[in-house]
Amino acid sequence: MRPLFIVVEGLDGSGGTTQSRLLQEWFNAQGLEIHLTCEPSHGPIGLLIQKSLSVSEESTHISDRVLPYLFAADRQAHLDNEINPALLSGKIVISDRYYHSSLAYQGLSIGLSRVATLNEQFQKPDITFILWLEPEISFQRIQRRGEPLDRFETLDRLRNIAEAYDDVYAYCKSRGETIHKVDAQLSIEEIHLVMRDHIEKLLESCPT
Ligand code: TYD
Repeated sequence: MRPLFIVVEGLDGSGGTTQSRLLQEWFNAQGLEIHLTCEPSHGPIGLLIQKSLSVSEESTHISDRVLPYLFAADRQAHLDNEINPALLSGKIVISDRYYHSSLAYQGLSIGLSRVATLNEQFQKPDITFILWLEPEISFQRIQRRGEPLDRFETLDRLRNIAEAYDDVYAYCKSRGETIHKVDAQLSIEEIHLVMRDHIEKLLESCPT
């Protein structure tokens, strides 16, 4: 099978990490090699971002107006150091978040069109899933995790980000991306099956 670049997106608590892992297991069971990764990446810029997002870390606080540039820098490093080498070696890459997160989250601070310009040169995924969740449910799930919240994890912000994902979906469709909204309130298994179905259809329509 040809190398595939798959992106899983959605509000915090929408289950992207779980679904990325399930896809990995599904591909592995077919004997295919996967590179499972995420953004912010585990490289030096990604680690700096992670640290700065934590609301308790005042020493590494980076303003919302600066973050979009850091996310873009992290993305370039992620493509150069991980995503492209993995695709070139014939692996399937699954990334838990990519530029769609920047469009949704950072679009709220500097505007969607500016974030879009900053990210338009990055290669498009072969297929993207937005796990679609009501902001109220997202907030409940985040609170239940019992972990410290990051700066995006307030109900008001989640409501804005949820709306922003609608604009991201429309923007990506308009530039010809293969992108699907999936109801993240279905069961974990149901979501997985819906995603598999879309991937199988994509592979049937363009197998090489
Ligand atoms: P993530 O590691 O997925 O957080 P969690 O494990 O808590 O779900 O992502 C960290 C946060 O970074 C998440 O709230 C989304 C945000 N983010 C952006 O704001 N812009 C981006 O470009 C990316 C990739 C993530």
